[in-house]
Amino acid sequence: MLQGKSIVLGVSGGIAVYKAVELLRLLTKAGADVHVIMTKNACEFVAPLTFQTLSGHPVHTDLFSLSQEQEIDHISLADRADLFILAPATANLVGKISQGLADDLLTTSVMATKAPVLVAPAMNSNMYENPIYQRNQKTLVEFGYHVFEPVSGSLACGWEGLGKLPDPKDIFAAAEAVLTPKDLSGCHILVTAGPTREEIDPVRYISNYSSGKMGFAVAAAAQQRGAQVTLIAGPTNLTVPFGVHSVPVVSAEEMRSAVFDHLSDSDVVIKSAAVADYRPVDRSAQKMKKSATELTLNLEKNPDILAELGQQKEGRILIGFAAETERLLVHAAEKLQKKNLDLIVANDITREGAGFDVDTNIVKFLHADGRVEELELLSKSQVAQQLLARVGVLWKANSLSDDQ
Ligand code: CTP
Repeated sequence: MLQGKSIVLGVSGGIAVYKAVELLRLLTKAGADVHVIMTKNACEFVAPLTFQTLSGHPVHTDLFSLSQEQEIDHISLADRADLFILAPATANLVGKISQGLADDLLTTSVMATKAPVLVAPAMNSNMYENPIYQRNQKTLVEFGYHVFEPVSGSLACGWEGLGKLPDPKDIFAAAEAVLTPKDLSGCHILVTAGPTREEIDPVRYISNYSSGKMGFAVAAAAQQRGAQVTLIAGPTNLTVPFGVHSVPVVSAEEMRSAVFDHLSDSDVVIKSAAVADYRPVDRSAQKMKKSATELTLNLEKNPDILAELGQQKEGRILIGFAAETERLLVHAAEKLQKKNLDLIVANDITREGAGFDVDTNIVKFLHADGRVEELELLSKSQVAQQLLARVGVLWKANSLSDDQ
């Protein structure tokens, strides 16, 4: 989403400046071209050289620096930006922008840009709650600025409360969201992710290698495109994406109940979970002790949640996943047809960069009308964006046919 985008990162002075360094790293890693503007006070907290090294561009600090103006003047910087991010934004910066003041390079550039502006304020909690500050922030929102609210926690001034700059990963996701088309606004999407665990006894279970990364990326992308997202996830180590409602589950049966509990509101179901196909017939209440040299576990079949959804589709869009080790297209096409899906995402997990615990994937989209799209090696979040773009088209077509 941010690949090749031109971003201006405006940094104003506060202890949270160090987090802007991490944000810059995430932005450049995603392929964005980032130019940093620092206020004088920001330079007191972290040296511009840090931002210069990580962005690969000189840092802009002084409105009247002739050498900087020769390289790239602040108006063209503002003009060619796809996005401005102000992080951390002090009460002073928000106050100045909301009043239309432009007395340094950062405020001048913000005033000169037509790009969307994402503001991430950070300050002492009393300052944040001050009605004058709140009025200024509201003014920004009314003028279409995107304000990413601070979070609660212990603040550098020793206070506890609202005013902390959010995690750079969340600001990064908010930046992606600002630039993402909102083609799924009004759409309710149910996503399942991760593995399920089928308990044998209180200390053992059957499961699989699914990390949940693909499903969590799908949930994040759907949220960024404006959908209301419920994420039903088996056990993973991942953080629930910002703005996503999460329902944690453990076993396939729990996942099935959660899916059917949330089904009535859903326009789209995306089943990226790796559901265990079998579970032990009996779960031992106590830890099983070893005795014989061999142990036979009796397993019974779990419900096939997606197949059940396919039998009672009721106009919903159904998306499945097929992770295969051989005959990818044949197996995926069979599942698409048997489970009555609109689209299936197929990947060969034996290919490098397409396995369970990596951040990339190589997938094919098989459509119900027989079309097959082959995607190159992409990050899981890029795959998710590509998938959600297809979901947007399917959902629009569905809504149109409902209207007729
Ligand atoms: N699925 C499901 N419930 C199950 C098994 C699978 O909802 N009990 C869903 C998965 O979430 C995925 C799709 O069905 O979207 C295909 O899952 P997969 O495990 O690849 O296929 P299976 O139908 O289980 O077939 P097999 O294990 O024989 O490959």
